[in-house]
Amino acid sequence: MRVLILAAGLGKRMKSSYPKVIHKLSGKELINWVIDTAGKISNDVAVVLGHKASLVKSRIPKWVEVFIQEEQLGTAHAVMSAKDFIDPEDNLLILYGDVPLISESTLISLINRHKKTGADVTVLTAVLDDPTGYGRIVRDSSGKFVRVVEEADLSRKERNIREVNSGIYVFKGNKLLEVLPKIDNENAQGEYYLTDALRMLQSVETYIIEDPIEISGVNTRKQLIKLEKIVRFRVIEYLLENGVTVIDPETTYIDSTVKIGKDTVIYPMTFIYRNTVIGEECEIGPMTCIEDSEIGSRVRVIRSEVKGAIIYDGVSVGPFSRLREGAVLKPKVRVGNFVEVKKATLEENVAAQHLTYIGDAHIEKGTNVGAGTITCNYDGEKKNPTFIGENAFIGSNTAIVAPARIGKDALIGAGSVITKDVPDGSLGLGRARQVNREGWVYKRRNQK
Ligand code: UD1
Ligand code: MG
Repeated sequence: MRVLILAAGLGKRMKSSYPKVIHKLSGKELINWVIDTAGKISNDVAVVLGHKASLVKSRIPKWVEVFIQEEQLGTAHAVMSAKDFIDPEDNLLILYGDVPLISESTLISLINRHKKTGADVTVLTAVLDDPTGYGRIVRDSSGKFVRVVEEADLSRKERNIREVNSGIYVFKGNKLLEVLPKIDNENAQGEYYLTDALRMLQSVETYIIEDPIEISGVNTRKQLIKLEKIVRFRVIEYLLENGVTVIDPETTYIDSTVKIGKDTVIYPMTFIYRNTVIGEECEIGPMTCIEDSEIGSRVRVIRSEVKGAIIYDGVSVGPFSRLREGAVLKPKVRVGNFVEVKKATLEENVAAQHLTYIGDAHIEKGTNVGAGTITCNYDGEKKNPTFIGENAFIGSNTAIVAPARIGKDALIGAGSVITKDVPDGSLGLGRARQVNREGWVYKRRNQK
């Protein structure tokens, strides 16, 4: 079985600078929903691209074959652009790049029906309360399929038909190749309609879908967010059924691309996006946003922002922390309130609990970073690195002017501005010496 996905259309109604099929639904491009489902059925998957084809191509997996339709002259014309992909000896499943929720099980039922009946083509149809926008399925008095009529070409009587064409079909390759060149564009829209192929073929079967939501196309942003909402609750339901507690589904947003381990609890007002992986027995949230991050097990992240970070087992983060691109927190690290970490590795048991910025740094095991420590990594031109050895102690309110190297077991006095390397086991002090003038205040008062 080969699968061809039509996705050359512009998607005018999205009013976007980007092709419709790369708009995201629950963290994944529309077209990749279809490709992923197609990939479960076949290894031979191709797409027809047109509008901004190279941009779309850069967002889809490499194993998918690409055909280009220079001008979008209709669905039959799109299939024609991929004529070389059609194997006369095999069946061809046709899908649309903007119909993301079509399921593997529906497609398998459709294919089985097609194989069992030996029809030239089998059409996936649906009965809708509101069929507006779809081509309608016309049947004769015995219920046999007659043809598809496009919305623009409907007669008044045909407007009452509620059974619609999903646009998804399985064709016998040889039959499709036979009729494709015969399709013309003499219709209300002046397009080459793939639906005309159905009229030209001898035996047409239909398969009526159980859940019509699967064939919902995304043509507008309004339709996109309608599906977004459906998928959002599906994702949460899946998590609940698989050992993850989501305390408040109404205020929780988790992309379909996220993976979460069992006995993890997600607290309210939490957002987990893109390719995030979270281990078991974690506590995430409330009020936390995590994106593109890898999180181990037994990790706590409270009221924090985490993006592009790697967090190992037993780490605690927050409240009010910000972990940015390239933050790596090894096991049992503690990052507390108002701490920002960027492009820095904190080895096992490092603690940075309060009001700190750590950027472009490497901190060895067991080091304590005092409140208010700042790595001054930027000199106005470039970023410079900081290295801190193991079991060091950085006193509160220290500014480490990078590039800097602080040895293991070193101790930095509070309030220091460190501009020179500190050797292993040494005390580094960089602040003005304190002066006390005894009785100075009283003396001045008496003078007045
Ligand atoms: C099509 C069907 C209609 C069906 C509906 C279901 C035809 C003539 N009509 O209509 O019966 O009810 O889908 O959603 O087939 N595309 C190309 N190149 C083109 C034109 C379209 O690749 O030249 C792609 C689009 O990107 C899209 C898909 O084909 O993914 C469907 O095209 P669209 O223009 O939306 O067809 P509809 O008018 O919705
Ligand atoms: Mg459409």
